[in-house]
Amino acid sequence: MIKIEICCGLNCLAHGGQELLDILENNEKYKKNCEIKCVNCLNECGDTAENSPVIKINDKIYKKITADCMMNLIENFISK
Ligand code: FES
Repeated sequence: MIKIEICCGLNCLAHGGQELLDILENNEKYKKNCEIKCVNCLNECGDTAENSPVIKINDKIYKKITADCMMNLIENFISK
């Protein structure tokens, strides 16, 4: 099971995190293979949210991640 923590802090949600969350919550394959958690600010966003959105996949932090990048990472983990 892939562990995904998506930052649901204000900075991240306002800078793309909501889109990431919507993708995760609406994809049956991801829901089947991933444990998806919405977490409080991971303290990685930076003062001006320059690193947002932030997510953690299997305990590794990814900053300023795009939806495409997140989906590629997840596909890689699923195919391992
Ligand atoms: S709001 Fe996401 S790391 Fe701070």
